[in-house]
Amino acid sequence: VPLQKRNTFGVAARARLLAEVADPAALPALYARAFAGAAPLVLGGGSNLLFAADPDVPLLALTGREVRVLEDDGERAIVRADAGVEWHGFVMRCLGLGLAGLENLALIPGTVGAAPIQNIGAYGVEVRERIHAVEAFEPATGAVRRLRADECAFAYRDSVFKREPGRYVVVAVEFALARGLPPRLEYAGIGEELAARGVAAPTARDVAEAVIAIRRRKLPDPAVLGNAGSFFKNPIVPRALAEALQAGHPALPVFRGVDAGTRKLSAAWLIDACGWKGHRDGAAGVAASHALVLVNHGGATGMQLLDLARRIADSVQARFGVAIEPEPRIVGARW
Ligand code: EPU
Repeated sequence: VPLQKRNTFGVAARARLLAEVADPAALPALYARAFAGAAPLVLGGGSNLLFAADPDVPLLALTGREVRVLEDDGERAIVRADAGVEWHGFVMRCLGLGLAGLENLALIPGTVGAAPIQNIGAYGVEVRERIHAVEAFEPATGAVRRLRADECAFAYRDSVFKREPGRYVVVAVEFALARGLPPRLEYAGIGEELAARGVAAPTARDVAEAVIAIRRRKLPDPAVLGNAGSFFKNPIVPRALAEALQAGHPALPVFRGVDAGTRKLSAAWLIDACGWKGHRDGAAGVAASHALVLVNHGGATGMQLLDLARRIADSVQARFGVAIEPEPRIVGARW
């Protein structure tokens, strides 16, 4: 099965088998037969994945695309979407129903089923804040479990689903949304974008439009130039290290960490400072518009992209003493 069109890097990998499943009720039989020898790799929109080699296990894609409002009291609503629903279309559909909460996450590539895996986040909001429950097939028991948000171990770009690959297959997600939610404008760029548009009292739709405009300016469109969004996570470091670095580099952006003793640094800034923005090694490169985004100019292999990523990380380590780690899942190689 060719995978080039199923990963947003556009890497020409191949799989032996790809099972597309619309109804999760088919999963127990598949796990008993086709997946009996090797647990499958679950594929969503392929937007957070780097095929460094051909996968040596079968692939599984959930293709259910139903969206249903489970509860709606006129103020708050619970909306359930199957894993195969395209993310951005879902965000816009909720806004069309008058339901706010996902607008800061507009235009993120991928599927609903992938959203909880790495707890997608952008412009001041993480999806965990909007997740009511995750419905996941558990191969060990052959049953679909419903995990409340507090059972998903969500953290920055992380969850139980990412930390324990193979334990669950997300089949649907329930979101808690609302009418008249106050807009979330902590991320400075949104306020600036809204001001530039002359919007004083932004609606959820205004916020979505601002986010869409910012993303279009900064992030290459994977349909035009292969990429997987941010290739590195923003590193979480001890507060003392962040302060020492900032003393030497006052422009380094430093954000809240996970507790009082930690801070999160801008990986983009560190990489940019090492001179990588716009760098190109044959077909593998770094976006000219954003230092955190690796791009495939056409025909790059996953290994070439991974080699470039390793050299970037080595240079950041050598210059700043900070280890940066990949955000996408790397298939067929170890970081
Ligand atoms: N910066 C540079 N050089 C660059 C780009 C950015 O120095 O080439 C500095 C600037 O100072 C900028 C700061 O980095 O202010 C932060 O940049 P940006 O606002 O673009 O955010 P980010 O930290 O690089 C994170 C997420 C993005 C998300 C944005 C907006 C991660 C790994 N990435 O990027 O998520 O869209 O914030 O909230 O947390 C993704 O995960 O794939 C992704 C795109």
